Amino acid sequence: MDPDPIYLDNSATTPLAGEVIASMEPYFSDEYGNASSLHRFGRRAHAAIEEARASLAETIGVEPSEIVFTSGATEADNLAIKGLAFAHPEKRHIVTSRIEHHAVLHACRWLEERGYEVTYLDVDRAGRVEPEAVKEAIRDDTLLVSIMAGNNEIGTIEPIGEIGEICKERGVPFHTDAGQAYGKVDIPAGSVDLLSVSAHKLNGPKGVGFLYVRKGIRLSPLLSGGGHERGLRSGTENVPGIVGLAAAARLAFSERETVVPRLRGFRERLIEGVMRIPGVRLNGDRKESLPHIVNFSFAGIEGESLVMRLDERGIAASTGSACSSPNLEPSHVLVAIRVPLSMAHGSLRISTGRQTTEEEVDRFLEVIPSVVEELRAISPFKVEG
Ligand SMILES: Cc1ncc(COP(=O)(O)O)c(C=O)c1O
Repeated sequence: MDPDPIYLDNSATTPLAGEVIASMEPYFSDEYGNASSLHRFGRRAHAAIEEARASLAETIGVEPSEIVFTSGATEADNLAIKGLAFAHPEKRHIVTSRIEHHAVLHACRWLEERGYEVTYLDVDRAGRVEPEAVKEAIRDDTLLVSIMAGNNEIGTIEPIGEIGEICKERGVPFHTDAGQAYGKVDIPAGSVDLLSVSAHKLNGPKGVGFLYVRKGIRLSPLLSGGGHERGLRSGTENVPGIVGLAAAARLAFSERETVVPRLRGFRERLIEGVMRIPGVRLNGDRKESLPHIVNFSFAGIEGESLVMRLDERGIAASTGSACSSPNLEPSHVLVAIRVPLSMAHGSLRISTGRQTTEEEVDRFLEVIPSVVEELRAISPFKVEG
């Protein structure tokens, strides 16, 4: 019998935690009320949403009224960027980085096609945005600075505290996509005006997330309708999803002190083990990284073949980000950190989660040298040792 598959793709998505499923279950069955209804079914659904809002606000030290539920981080990013643009039509310039998630980059590109100017900041070879570069890029007509908290492909943590202070000094709103960082590293929410979070990166359900909107920041809604979320997001609330998101966040924050050091240990073990293979580079920063993501490039190999071979051996990993896997362009993040093109095509992202075990990490380390060797044996490219 095949051994159980090993899931090392937790940046793409995570399994639902048992506690999260249990918290959501009543809202799929008996508690089916519409949170806008006045009767008891509606009132109970409304109370569940408000309880979730309060507990999420507490995780980042903000007011419940500053949390807007969305369908995930993609929508939260779009609401932050386009919502701010629509509310402030006189401001026509945006500052972001070259390594943002496509939810941010494509929202910026969409505005660029409509006459906005966007400064895409370069990053250093570890993927770090230089706060001074943000300072220099800000102009009188800058609408927004959007820099992610932690990168989803290479794990690099951005200096969002420093960037937030610069934005504050210049009176420019600062948005951060914390899709991967929330629940894993400290987020200085005091330095941020807008912050995006997704539940499914956190052992919560898919299709739900939130945008933190600091009081006083004016956004236009993207959806027209009943105005459910403070007029910023219309649509009948996803009650089980919202309850599950709050349960997932509570779990992540309550076990952070034990889970994060474990994931950091796995990351170090993975780096030590994989770097023993010749012709490998570590993409990203060894130290300033999210605990659960590590990215390598293997000379002379296509990342896609590596993922398929690993899958045959029961190991699920990914090349670059899951969102761009089907397209064979090298990842924009690896290009931005100046990974040579030949190496960028041979990238592999390993991302661990709360359910990952040491045995699973060791099994991966046992399998990877032979998979690399097999693929190199059939590769037309010669690898220098
Ligand atoms: C950094 C980051 N931002 C945004 C997203 C999109 O999140 P969602 O799937 O909730 O739309 C992801 C997930 O791929 C991500 O990793």
